[in-house]
Amino acid sequence: MMQPRILIFDSGMGGLTVASAVARQMPHAHLVYAADNAAFPYGAWNEVDLVQRILRVIRVLNDAVEPDIIVIACNTASTIAMAELRAKFSVPFVGTVPAIKPAAAQTRSGIVGVLATPGTVKREYTRGLIQDFASNCHVVLHGAARLAELAERKLSGDAISVEELRAEIAPAFVERDGQRTDVVVLGCTHYPLLAAEIEAVAPWPVTYIDPSAAIARRVGDVIDITPRRHGAGLTHGSVALTGVGSGKALRSAYSSMGFPFQHVIDLPV
Ligand code: DGL
Repeated sequence: MMQPRILIFDSGMGGLTVASAVARQMPHAHLVYAADNAAFPYGAWNEVDLVQRILRVIRVLNDAVEPDIIVIACNTASTIAMAELRAKFSVPFVGTVPAIKPAAAQTRSGIVGVLATPGTVKREYTRGLIQDFASNCHVVLHGAARLAELAERKLSGDAISVEELRAEIAPAFVERDGQRTDVVVLGCTHYPLLAAEIEAVAPWPVTYIDPSAAIARRVGDVIDITPRRHGAGLTHGSVALTGVGSGKALRSAYSSMGFPFQHVIDLPV
């Protein structure tokens, strides 16, 4: 059986948390990473324009990479564009949505915090997850305006402000009726990159839910039933960027996460 060719896509470096889990689960898979860094951050986009942007980028990437499967390793994109992507492309997709269901199963206090981008917290899809799986919980949805950017800064080797980080996460931690938040969903793939820093500034200890291992298992299940395309696209370990990348810090951040070969695809916003 040929090795599966897997394209992992995000607006920036957040999907690398999913890529690491996929690499652990399938060490011999052919992995290509793609970041729409020209359009980062997706959390600030309006829904109509964002769907069009994602369809445009995926069209170019699908042709360039010829993957057997595409992983949309971005909650902000998955909660708005999965239906359109599946309708427009024949390649299978796996998406990433906030892990509200497992959080509701794990909370003891009944108070769940969800950290996500402003885009993800506004989505009907996210509200639907709460209604379907966490209606017996008090769910605090917090759209963190700059948390994904702080994660990018960390990976690029820049210092990040502890105060800013504390302020970005604080609203997800609440106390009410003698109970407090005890589970926090990392509802953006960038946030596990800041796991240690978030834990250090949190007002009290909680269980954090990082869904990347579960996504990697799902990718494995879908790959098992997917015929190979015999694609001849970008080599294993490539990262495709839609905007000028190529600074030394960016290059070394991707290299250290297993993607040393940079390709810049000219797709301005
Ligand atoms: N990593 C993306 C997510 O999971 C979002 C970052 C952004 O705002 O572009 O939602």
